[in-house]
Amino acid sequence: MRLNKEINQFDIPLAKRTYLNNSNSILLKKLLILSPFLFLIFSIAALRLIRNIELEPLYNLKFQVERDHDGRIFGHIPYKEIPKEKLVLIEPNIEVHIDMRDSLLKMREEAKKDGIYLVFLSGYRSINLQNDIFYSLKSIRNQEAAERARVSAPPGYSEHSTGFAIDIGDATQRETDFEADFENTDAFRWLIKNAARYHFKLSFNKDNKYIDYEPWHWRYEGSIEALKVFESSNIKL
Ligand code: DAL
Ligand code: ZN
Repeated sequence: MRLNKEINQFDIPLAKRTYLNNSNSILLKKLLILSPFLFLIFSIAALRLIRNIELEPLYNLKFQVERDHDGRIFGHIPYKEIPKEKLVLIEPNIEVHIDMRDSLLKMREEAKKDGIYLVFLSGYRSINLQNDIFYSLKSIRNQEAAERARVSAPPGYSEHSTGFAIDIGDATQRETDFEADFENTDAFRWLIKNAARYHFKLSFNKDNKYIDYEPWHWRYEGSIEALKVFESSNIKL
């Protein structure tokens, strides 16, 4: 008995073996097995996020470049010349697209009833004529192309070549013909109030960055053909 007691006194304590709780250990094992897949999923998600963040400005830039290269020159959109058989003469020197004739003449008649006298200054212009207007005047006035393009479309880029554009003046104030001052005439005030009734729209307003304000220049948008022709122009830049 005494011997046993002595032995117990010098007994080296045994390392206590502990076991992980059984369910925790299963979870850990599962996590270890799944960890490569989880790592892969997180990596893909992170990469996609980074890619989106980095590419968004690039996509915007691409869209901007596409918009800037939709064929415009100095802000003017390319237009095909109207086929001759669709042109009609409405008065000496004024030809227009047959689709817009009735509406245009009706607009002038209705304006007259209100005491407003509209005068037509320029309708259809061939691409050849536009060529002369652009380059001859550019040369005579010693202008660079960009400067000339603020007031005149390059050949192949004028709404006038489609037959759907008309320049309008006030018969009682001819000094305002083709002048920004036309906006102060009764004719212009009447047009602003009524032109849409006849499907006419001001083409070059004060917001246009590239082309000077032209209160006298109106285009017709009262047929599917006309709407197709001016579709690009109606997409806001
Ligand atoms: N004056 C307009 C821009 C044209 O020449 O068509
Ligand atoms: Zn015009």
